[in-house]
Amino acid sequence: MSEIRFDGRVAVVTGSGRGLGKSHALLLASRGAKVVVNDLGGAVDGAGGGSQTPAEEVVQEIKAAGGEAVADYNGVHTAEGGKGIIETATKAFGKVDILINNAGILRDVSFMKMTDEQWDMVLKVHLYGAYYVTKAAWPVMKENNYGRVIFTTSAAGLYGNFGQTNYSAAKMGVVGMMNTLKAEGAKNNIMVNTIGPGAVSRMTESIMPKDVLDLMVPELVSPIVCLMCSEDFKETGHIMAAGAGHYAKVQIIESKGVYLDPKSKVTMEDVREKLPDIVNMEGAITAQNAMDGIGKFFKQG
Ligand code: NAI
Repeated sequence: MSEIRFDGRVAVVTGSGRGLGKSHALLLASRGAKVVVNDLGGAVDGAGGGSQTPAEEVVQEIKAAGGEAVADYNGVHTAEGGKGIIETATKAFGKVDILINNAGILRDVSFMKMTDEQWDMVLKVHLYGAYYVTKAAWPVMKENNYGRVIFTTSAAGLYGNFGQTNYSAAKMGVVGMMNTLKAEGAKNNIMVNTIGPGAVSRMTESIMPKDVLDLMVPELVSPIVCLMCSEDFKETGHIMAAGAGHYAKVQIIESKGVYLDPKSKVTMEDVREKLPDIVNMEGAITAQNAMDGIGKFFKQG
């Protein structure tokens, strides 16, 4: 089996001072990538002034193992922060080939009790953060005709989770961003994919039983994330799920549906009568893009 390498490649991993991001950064560096270890070092809810220690320690670990890395302490949640992170990469290593949008926080609370501030801050870090850093990296990748971008979603967004409306919305937002960027990046060899991870970290250690968490090490998520960052990976627009040694693809699918005569007046009662067939997911299909999705309306049969 030939080894997958990242020699000559420059990778930015946001929020890589701890948890999943740290694991991704260490794996990329161990295979030859020069890595920007970004982390503002805040609390799990994003509060506090932050600390340089987490990013700095990961850089030291990479260097001690013979790799190359620099620390960056910008927050992803502002446009200046996003630009600053990419500038750290271009100043230190001249370019950016790989971007893993991983930084994240939680502000869990039921929808009734959620404040606008709790909503905004989670959207700011996960959705705007992914936007700001990707927006700054995109022209560099386009110029070099090469890019591998990863977004980080969550089962909470894909399937829902009590008390996480802010987080769920943000985590599906990045899936929408990927779905369009996959088309906009393709001609410049920029592949955009998404990971839905499951791993023990300070984010999950209080909400899952210990015997489950013991199997959910971040190092079991990073192989598929880093594979999607490799030159060999020519696929774009995938959502991959990974945790505890399980690897799978997630897809948005649509039932085959039913056709009612578009030239007739369709009533609610007509739709109600057909509802069992409309929601029957047997033979469900996916679409490559919005036009393909809309085009299906006209493919009778
Ligand atoms: P973590 O809390 O261990 O790591 C997140 C890192 O992001 C922290 O080091 C934090 O300082 C950094 N960070 C937070 N806000 C930042 C900002 N504005 N700018 C720069 N860095 C910032 O959490 P974990 O579990 O490693 O999560 C990583 C990503 O994976 C997150 O996006 C999370 O939502 C996602 N995720 C994790 C799951 C899990 O099972 N651990 C499940 C689903 C998604």
